[in-house]
Amino acid sequence: MKSMNRRRFIGNSVKIGAGLFVMPTIMMNGMDSNNKPALLGGKSASAWGFSRWPIYDKSEESSLVKVLNSGQWGRLGGQVSPAFEKEYAKLLGVKSCLAVSSGTSALYTMLGALDIGPGDEVIIPVYTFVATYNVLVQNYALPVFVDTDMETFQIDANKIESAITQDTKILMPVHIGGSPADMDKILSIGKKHKLPIIEDACQAVMGEWKGEKLGSLGLGGAFSFQSSKNLNCAEGGAITSNDEDFIKKCYTFHNQGQGGASTSYGTGAGTRGTNLRITEFQSTLLLAQMSRLAEQAKTRSENAIYLSKMFNEIPGITPAKLYKGTTNSAYHLYMFRYDKSHFAGMSRPRFIQALAAEGIPCDAGYGQMNKDLYVQGLAKNPHYLKVYGEHKMKEWLERINCPQNDKLTSEQSLWFTQTMLLAPKSDMEKITAAVMKIQKNAAQLVKY
Ligand SMILES: Cc1ncc(COP(=O)(O)O)c(C=O)c1O
Repeated sequence: MKSMNRRRFIGNSVKIGAGLFVMPTIMMNGMDSNNKPALLGGKSASAWGFSRWPIYDKSEESSLVKVLNSGQWGRLGGQVSPAFEKEYAKLLGVKSCLAVSSGTSALYTMLGALDIGPGDEVIIPVYTFVATYNVLVQNYALPVFVDTDMETFQIDANKIESAITQDTKILMPVHIGGSPADMDKILSIGKKHKLPIIEDACQAVMGEWKGEKLGSLGLGGAFSFQSSKNLNCAEGGAITSNDEDFIKKCYTFHNQGQGGASTSYGTGAGTRGTNLRITEFQSTLLLAQMSRLAEQAKTRSENAIYLSKMFNEIPGITPAKLYKGTTNSAYHLYMFRYDKSHFAGMSRPRFIQALAAEGIPCDAGYGQMNKDLYVQGLAKNPHYLKVYGEHKMKEWLERINCPQNDKLTSEQSLWFTQTMLLAPKSDMEKITAAVMKIQKNAAQLVKY
């Protein structure tokens, strides 16, 4: 491969640094990369160590049985959920944590605590899971999408300020893939415009910005413990904050507008509420799963950094860059860009298919949410027309154009999931060898 010795110092990660990197001999010897791609009848790597998920043992079983036999299944009056909240707050280095029924509930609760409603605008990235958008629409607030920084896949912080209007009430950045958004810029915009920052850290358990855990930097952080997440209890979530009054308001909102006489939360303010409570079963699972969190995070990080070093040597494959303040990514997703001009013009779907034949699951990731019929239809929703008027909703459709995101998601973006990063280091080499093999045979694969 002609550019094997080329050095690309793109500052992919603060931890990677810019030292000399030599491709492992497994690939230099061409073990896999000289073979025929599996899609063309060649052999795929025989076994992958991609982790089964969830990972659990007897400790999960015994804690679930303990809750079962206690007869105390709900959080009201329970001891397990407060114990989890204490542990999670300690892990994040925040004053308070409130466990809730999902990541969506965490976001929705914070919006309720801040009394976001019709007429309010909230700024969110376009490259995110649809829940970030849905919680705003549930409140009849106007979601204002900001374009994506193609190099990082994160919200383009340089485009936030121009999206702010007199109706903007919150900035809601997302740490997509578990990597931090550009928090220095976002925090300073929030300060300048006196806007609270709610971090959607649903994918970012253990991610860090300048040594501080994600979800601890703004007014509140939202976490998801849904099945695919790095910390998993099937469905669950948490709110983290250093503002204890804010957590009290969140508690009240998520508990039908009522404080908890038997809790330390007291009665918060507010005129609206619902039930978004966690159960003791979820909390006990979370406590058990937390015992493996640090080790798993370390493995993901080490593998991702190693994979990036190798990927940076392959023309046309570019790992998502991390901002300078990043001290750790949670690597819920390993995001990277594909440039077909280095693969004989092979389309992204064909590249994904070729990887799948090698036994490597790879996904194109999120698309153009602003262009989804589901989202565009909001401009015709009768409630929205009543609150905002036809002119403003038409204008909204124009405001939410995101050309960079269009470019990224239409042909370049790809990701691997976090469970793949729990595999042995040798699998990262096998993935790289498979990509190189596909590249070498790209011309035939295009014809396939
Ligand atoms: C960025 C983001 N926000 C919000 C959510 C919602 O979390 P949950 O599925 O726990 O409701 C998710 C979960 O996938 C997410 O990835």
